Amino acid sequence: MTDNWVAVCPLAAVKSGEMTLEDAAGNEIVLASVDGQVYAFDAICTHALGYLDQGDLEGHEVRCPLHEGRFDIRTGAVLGGEPQEPIAVYPIRIDEDTVYVAMPED
Ligand code: FES
Repeated sequence: MTDNWVAVCPLAAVKSGEMTLEDAAGNEIVLASVDGQVYAFDAICTHALGYLDQGDLEGHEVRCPLHEGRFDIRTGAVLGGEPQEPIAVYPIRIDEDTVYVAMPED
């Protein structure tokens, strides 16, 4: 399996300490900026379809708006709450002020 680098949005669209819902080749992902680093992860919670961009971001922890499941946006690991499965996280690269995300190819 190889990765497919997808141009997602301008770097300026990812504000420090905030999350933004984006489309990466038909996949809904969230970009978040924490301490100058951009992270990419699946938008939909693994528990029951909550949109994580509508939750809260505290440091590297995102909290789902539906049942307060918590994930580490660096690894996707579950930190607490109802979810049993981690969220997918994706490598990112910044090139000429554009954010690229590596989406796995089938
Ligand atoms: S949908 Fe996210 S914790 Fe339930």
